[in-house]
This record gives sequence, C-alpha cells and structure tokens, in this order.
Amino acid sequence: MVDSTLRKDLDHILISEEEIKEAVQQLGKKITEEYRDKSPVFVCILKGAAVFFSDLMREVDLPLTIDFMAISSYGSSTKSSGVVRILKDLDHDVLNKDVLVVEDIVDSGLTLTYIQKVMSERGANSVRLVTLLDKPERRKTPLEVDYACFQIPNEFVVGYGLDYQEKYRNLPYVGVLHPDIYSDQA
Ligand code: IMP
Ligand code: MG
Repeated sequence: MVDSTLRKDLDHILISEEEIKEAVQQLGKKITEEYRDKSPVFVCILKGAAVFFSDLMREVDLPLTIDFMAISSYGSSTKSSGVVRILKDLDHDVLNKDVLVVEDIVDSGLTLTYIQKVMSERGANSVRLVTLLDKPERRKTPLEVDYACFQIPNEFVVGYGLDYQEKYRNLPYVGVLHPDIYSDQA
C-alpha cells in the first residue's frame, strides 16, 4: 500500500478508497444503463484522470472504445492560468460518436468547456462530461457536468490520479494537501 511517505504531506484524507470504489461502481452502472445499445468513446484527459478512467471503464458493460487527450492549463502552480492547450490529441476521429469525456476534477470549468467545444466542432453525435471530483464554488464559466462522483469544497486535493507538481498521483485515495507544502507557491 502506497501510504506512509506521501501521507505525511496531507492535512487529511477527504475521500477514502472504499468511498471511491463504491462511487465508481455506481457510476459505471448508470452509464451502462444510459448508453445501452451504444458504443461510446471514453476520452481520458491525461494525466490526472488516468486512474479514475481505468477503474471506471472496467465498471461499464458496453462495447466502448478509449482514447486519450492531454491538455495543459495550469503549469506547476495550484491556480489556473485559464490557458488551455492541446499537448496530445486523440488518435481517432469522433465524428458521429457518442463521446464521454472523463476528467479528474472540474475547477474553473475552463478545461472542460474547451474540450466540449472541440468535440462538438469535430461532429460528435453527443458529448457528455464525467468527473470524479467537482469544485462548484470555483467555476469561472457556466458548465453543466453530466456525471460527478463527488462535490468537494474549495481545497487543493491530491491522490487517485491528481497531482501537485506531478507527485501524489499514486495515492489510492483523495486527500487535502497540507498548506505548508504549497503555501510559498500560491
Ligand atoms: P479547470 O479548467 O480549472 O476546471 O481545471 C481542471 C484541472 O485543474 C484538473 O484537470 C486538474 O488537473 C487541475 N486541478 C484543479 N483543482 C485541482 C486540485 O485540487 N488538485 C489537483 N489538480 C487540480
Ligand atoms: Mg486534469
């Protein structure tokens, strides 16, 4: 279990492994029902959503396909620059496809607003947004998230794919980073 070395940089654990597992299973069931008779494309927004994505797709009983996109909007700071850039594009066309965009967390909403627009412009049949975590207080743009596992307060979190300066992604739960770790950067 990855725990002791990284755990000491956390103030507290916000969402446990068990809670995540339960929520991911529920969401997988819901998507399986709502996309019955469809073959959706699951788009993983790298790198943060990778852990959630790999767990979620194994809870979905549909002939889905997967693709990956990497976006940059943050740099190494804990605050959004608002600049969205495609670092790695999808391998396949989304024309006429039912796309489910899978994110780790929705904060300002700028990243998913941009990705939603790109998918629609490329002629996707439908585009829905899935996120593990949602920080609704932080929105800078109105954005409808279709599936969110957890709404969380305005705190910087790491683990289960989410990073601070590329670290902590391998924690099996979501925790609030101790402010001492990033206070000199914010
Ligand atoms: P948005 O465009 O502001 O909604 O940005 C969402 C992205 O910001 C996520 O995909 C994360 O990469 C990053 N992010 C926002 N809040 C956090 C956090 O609390 N911890 C780690 N990454 C975060
Ligand atoms: Mg991200």
